[in-house]
Amino acid sequence: MSKITASIKGVHGYVPDYILTNSELEKMVDTNDEWITSRTGIKERRILKGEGLGASHMMVKAVEGLLAKTNTSAADIEMVICCTSTPDLVFPATANIVATQVGAVNAFGYDIQAACSGFLYGLTTGSQFIESGRLKKVLVIGGDKMSSIIDYTDRATCIIFGDGAGAVLLEANEEGNGLMDFWLRSDGSGEPYLHMTAGGSRKPASHETVDLKEHFVYQDGKTVFKFAVTNMAYAATQVMQRNNLTGDDIAYLVPHQANKRIIDATARGVGVPDEKVLMNIEKYGNTTNGTIPLLLWDFESKFKKGDNLLIAAFGGGFTWGAAYLKWAY
Ligand code: UT7
Repeated sequence: MSKITASIKGVHGYVPDYILTNSELEKMVDTNDEWITSRTGIKERRILKGEGLGASHMMVKAVEGLLAKTNTSAADIEMVICCTSTPDLVFPATANIVATQVGAVNAFGYDIQAACSGFLYGLTTGSQFIESGRLKKVLVIGGDKMSSIIDYTDRATCIIFGDGAGAVLLEANEEGNGLMDFWLRSDGSGEPYLHMTAGGSRKPASHETVDLKEHFVYQDGKTVFKFAVTNMAYAATQVMQRNNLTGDDIAYLVPHQANKRIIDATARGVGVPDEKVLMNIEKYGNTTNGTIPLLLWDFESKFKKGDNLLIAAFGGGFTWGAAYLKWAY
């Protein structure tokens, strides 16, 4: 019997309508379009407006579109993995909220918190349930409402992040396509450089934490930049070497969209030419858990069955890694 691999059967995304442009940010903080574009590659990002709408709002829309386009009944979904750093609530899991709203009544699920590497962690986790033969249909969702934890008076962070979500359907594959290999790491000593200080059990919300703006993302951009450049390329290289792949064998590099300069450096580090590097950072910014599924969604029509895709990510934690998959359709 041939080995079962987990392959992506479909991908869909959702971004909110509101577009926050660089010129609008120029009116909010001391910045300018030239600085943002040259330092990050970002021109605009989407913001979810509307009272009471959490990250699940975007995830539900992404999943509904995915189920429709893959002609999948929600009742056949067995597992929902939700990768997010901005869950609707501390508990219960956003995975449960989304599953119920889309009608996945026969599924179990949970959230994965690995900051910008979350979707990669979720994709590899969900794949294990398929490869083991235990499950047949697994949804992996990645998305964030970053605008809910961004200080729009802090120019170091507000120019970077945006809102959005994407989802993939994983199914068993016996043609040799799907997830081939992955290499993941995490290192908690990265906490000081990228975190949100309050709102967890160590420092619950109080008037003081609000006054001190401790419910917003803090990032030491320079330090994170250095770690991201080194580690994304290293992780991708590990996967390539283990699978005897060179840049010529890669159809597309699918990098987390944090900064165009990090993406360019990663591509150079692994020897993948510009035309094979997928990028949409200019229109969405960094949507954290949303970047990779949104990238797959935007470029889905380019992929051919058997194409070698190399995913690489880096995020708060620190967390980082890479995955090699063969596109299945
Ligand atoms: O996805 C999760 C992981 N996150 C990342 O991978 C993000 C990694 N970091 C980065 O992408 C970059 O470090 C940033 C985009 C955040 C910042 O770019 P940078 O080239 O590292 O800028 P910097 O922080 O070194 O600042 C350079 C200068 C400073 O001025 P001086 O000290 O040279 O006079 C900053 O004050 O640019 C200034 N600056 C700005 N100027 C205009 C910082 N932010 C802004 C801004 N507009 N928004």
